[in-house]
Amino acid sequence: MFARSALRPLTASSRLFSSSASRQTKVTVLGAGGGIGQPLSLLLKCDPLVSSLSLYDIRGAPGVAADVSHVDTASEVNGYAADMLDQALEGTKVVVIPAGVPRKPGMTRDDLFNTNASIVRDLASAVARTAPDAHILVISNPVNSTVPIVAATLEKAGVFDPRRLFGVTTLDVVRAARFLAGITGPGVNPNDTAVTVVGGHSGPTIVPLLSQSSYGKSVKGEAFEKIVYRIQYGGDEVVKAKDGAGSATLSMAYAGAKFTNSLLRGLNGEKGVITPTFVKSPLYEDQGIDFFSSNVELGPNGVEKIFPIGPISPEEQKLLEECLPQLKANIEKGKAFAAQ
Ligand code: NAD
Ligand code: LMR
Repeated sequence: MFARSALRPLTASSRLFSSSASRQTKVTVLGAGGGIGQPLSLLLKCDPLVSSLSLYDIRGAPGVAADVSHVDTASEVNGYAADMLDQALEGTKVVVIPAGVPRKPGMTRDDLFNTNASIVRDLASAVARTAPDAHILVISNPVNSTVPIVAATLEKAGVFDPRRLFGVTTLDVVRAARFLAGITGPGVNPNDTAVTVVGGHSGPTIVPLLSQSSYGKSVKGEAFEKIVYRIQYGGDEVVKAKDGAGSATLSMAYAGAKFTNSLLRGLNGEKGVITPTFVKSPLYEDQGIDFFSSNVELGPNGVEKIFPIGPISPEEQKLLEECLPQLKANIEKGKAFAAQ
């Protein structure tokens, strides 16, 4: 059906992956059998910076691994069954965690807390035990709480390094660029409409800074309200459309692979890799909020530099004021769980 040359793997020139440096890395996906885990595993198999891919789930990972391993890229792929978590993590540099239940219509991300908090805590304990130097990328919701849970679990085990823990908020950034391109006019490419999104990852804690974008700064009034709402509630749009079959999986796999590639480029020494991510952050610590998403420079040690949010409009200041108390409550809930 297709000429072979049309099926080239994604390479340095593609939108998703960039690979200016040559060092390669073992990446483990925990939750690889799921709606996100499967396409994410496929995309990571296509990333030239991944040399070895380790796929773990309580069900289905060996099958996903057998399938993905036939893709003609250089990396090797191994699948691990439910009782092989430690083997899956051995020697890994990067752990991506999409394990846990997704939302159904009518639920908030916080409604997932009771199930996902213990899943994430137990996986973090395993990382602490087996791969204490790994970088951990948390996708499982509610991110505003699961990231503090992972931090506290690593801290208890004596291996927490804040430079190596990331809540993946890339889907908000991807949505913001796409939605802004959509209202900017025909032919405008989302490559040119990047928007920094700060705060956390749920409803009002998602704060897009349109005023800092050359296209976004001219969006005012009702159009501004509408696009901010769409960025904040893009997840609900997908949950509703899937009508009980889960939440965003394909766009999340894209976003997860994109963030993983950014981290790998930073780890490999590429300079100037900057993207928003939810990390332990000093920016609002004086208000009791010690995790926050803002632009972060990624480098050989993970987090190299956390950027302040910079100048924002009065409307964005209002959004930030709505974000902070909810974010604080979500973080505290995660910490209280981890302290039990
Ligand atoms: P899913 O139910 O399709 O897949 C989850 C997978 O996790 C399943 O295969 C399940 O077997 C596995 N799992 C459960 N417990 C596990 C454990 N202890 N160890 C290993 N694997 C385990 O769900 P999904 O659609 O892939 O979503 C996964 C999570 O990602 C949800 O919490 C969802 O809310 C979240 N999510 C986050 C973002 C984001 O932007 N950060 C975006 C979309 C979804
Ligand atoms: C999203 O933003 O799509 C995810 O957080 C999944 C969800 O529950 O909305």
